Amino acid sequence: MHLHKYEKIWLVFGLGSLALFLLIIGFAAFWKGTHPQSHIETIDPQNVEAHESFKPENLGLREVADGKYIVNIVASAFNYDIGSDDAGKPVKTIRVPKGSTVLFQVTTKDVVHGFQVAGTNVNMMVEPGHISRLETVMKNAGEFTVVCNEYCGIGHHQMFATVEVYDE
Ligand code: CUA
Repeated sequence: MHLHKYEKIWLVFGLGSLALFLLIIGFAAFWKGTHPQSHIETIDPQNVEAHESFKPENLGLREVADGKYIVNIVASAFNYDIGSDDAGKPVKTIRVPKGSTVLFQVTTKDVVHGFQVAGTNVNMMVEPGHISRLETVMKNAGEFTVVCNEYCGIGHHQMFATVEVYDE
């Protein structure tokens, strides 16, 4: 079989890029540990309160061990429900000390929302029927804005919260 010079070049180019992309995926998955965040855990979006983590009294920040925290959040158009404070006012800021390990658990009651803590590696899609989970170490002190980065309706731009990482 005779192959033209240009045909050979393009074959090598095509197969080469295929191999390169597979290598990149393999590197990301097995070396860097990139994986879908939901772990395929499902939840009834009509009744998120039935799940222990998303009962109204369990929403918000909880210290589970020394320097280890869990934050439970229910997203809905156009709000992040992070529980309420002692006065009954909705919490808008999550405060954790620098260097703490925080597990974010987020679900949604209605449509697809985003959950991005700008300036950190936390960036999840929140889908109805699923629990999005991501654990991270808050290495830097500062105020980080939580934004919804999936268009969810006319109030999309009003959907935000704050993560405050303070120096101990
Ligand atoms: Cu929620 Cu955009």
